[in-house]
Amino acid sequence: MDKGTFNEKYVDDKIVLTELETAKKVALKIEEIYGADRPKYYINTLGCQQNEADSERIAGLCELMGYEYTDDPTSAKLIFVNTCAIREHAEIRAISVIGEYKHIKDEDPSVVIGVGGCMVTQGHRADKIKRGMPYVNFVFDTGAIYKIPELVQNALSGGKRRFETENDFKIAENIPAVRRDAHKAWLSIMYGCNNFCSYCIVPYVRGRERSRKSDDILKEAKLLIEGGAKDITLLGQNVNSYGKDTGEGVDFADLMRKICRIDGDFRLRFMTSHPKDASDKLIEAMAEEDKIAKHFHLPVQSGSDGILKRMNRHYDVEKYLSIIDKLKSSVKDVSITSDIIVAFPGETEDDFEKTLDLLKYVRYDAVFSFIYSPRVGTPAAKMDGAVPKEVSRERFARLMDVVNPISLERNGRFLGKTLRVLAEEPCKNVEGLLTGRADSPRPIHFPAGADVIGKFVDVKITKAETFSMNGEIIK
Ligand code: SAH
Ligand code: SF4
Ligand code: F3S
Repeated sequence: MDKGTFNEKYVDDKIVLTELETAKKVALKIEEIYGADRPKYYINTLGCQQNEADSERIAGLCELMGYEYTDDPTSAKLIFVNTCAIREHAEIRAISVIGEYKHIKDEDPSVVIGVGGCMVTQGHRADKIKRGMPYVNFVFDTGAIYKIPELVQNALSGGKRRFETENDFKIAENIPAVRRDAHKAWLSIMYGCNNFCSYCIVPYVRGRERSRKSDDILKEAKLLIEGGAKDITLLGQNVNSYGKDTGEGVDFADLMRKICRIDGDFRLRFMTSHPKDASDKLIEAMAEEDKIAKHFHLPVQSGSDGILKRMNRHYDVEKYLSIIDKLKSSVKDVSITSDIIVAFPGETEDDFEKTLDLLKYVRYDAVFSFIYSPRVGTPAAKMDGAVPKEVSRERFARLMDVVNPISLERNGRFLGKTLRVLAEEPCKNVEGLLTGRADSPRPIHFPAGADVIGKFVDVKITKAETFSMNGEIIK
């Protein structure tokens, strides 16, 4: 596939600027319609952190257009759904969520509804909305977020429904972002994916891999840190291959080290690494840089070489375990997590047991497991050997039986220890507790007042469970 020149990977700055100007014109228009009482926008974000980061840009554009945030869709004049397509369940959910907003529009036809994200980046899904959901004003694919001001302007002036689904995936810099929490930030360093794992829809809905210039990333990181960010997650589908296309000679490990040099007390995380590109250099950076959280999410997907080959993952179990061994010996007390797909086409009992063996060997802090879901247009969807539903369910349950006790044991290693925890938010289940995280991705609950949110505190772990821990602040 033609990679093009680096400049071609960007949306022309002038085009973005024109959109931002349009946003200001929309602001004048809505002032004309609504007066001083600013209309509200609502965004329902489904899917992964990439979508959350995109929604922060959508929010940025909404505010530039003069809308005000609400978490109640029934009071919104502008509603967005940012969809996901990773598994069938995600799409069913997205369709049902979009459907829920129909009655809001029935009651108030002036409400504008826009649908974006990975699901509608697939032509057949955009077409379904075109035909079956006439209350949706516009659809925009993951490469068209910067066009939102124009799309809203068109909808407000009674223009035709718009479907921006050219799949022209580029990087659009300088779109303002609104982040709900000052202390926590997603920072996209690259977009798209070139790996084409045979089961995965992402390369089709996010386009080819493209890295942002390191200076743009460093500038954003600096602003975030100055603005109080304490926990920054660098985002990309395969962060290890950052910089291969920029011609700058700055790879992912170099980028992390550069960010660590920025003054300030913050913790750096990243999502996701592909094992085929996980380098010793990156492991060394993690071992040496205090600001990098000692957590590595390194999805293995399966413990069987035959299945890994059919998945087009470009590594085998031996290579994967050599990275794990290196990681464990180099990074003190590292937390390792993974994704597993159960019941990939052709997965035999023997293949599955190899996955269980791998899980027992690695002893992950956490495993995110999914039953294989065929995605239209991917090679795996055409493979033979579909695993019957009952077998998938049974394997999934057996996987949990192996994974959960290991998670409990891994969390148990922190009992009695004092961890540096960023207090992130009020605990969702128990009043009076806050929830935060140390280097491990597991939530830690502890009693404290809301004034502590956004600060690092030393928490002594008093209880370890499978999915979380409890503790107390040490004065
Ligand atoms: N880029 C990341 C993954 C993004 S998708 C990576 O390579 O690790 C997150 C996870 O969803 C994947 O790791 C995989 O375990 C799961 N997944 C992706 N496609 C799937 C499918 N068709 N069925 C079931 N799980 C899937
Ligand atoms: Fe999907 Fe594979 Fe790319 Fe991850 S690396 S986004 S699983 S194609
Ligand atoms: Fe993320 Fe779902 Fe798209 S997992 S990249 S939002 S398909």
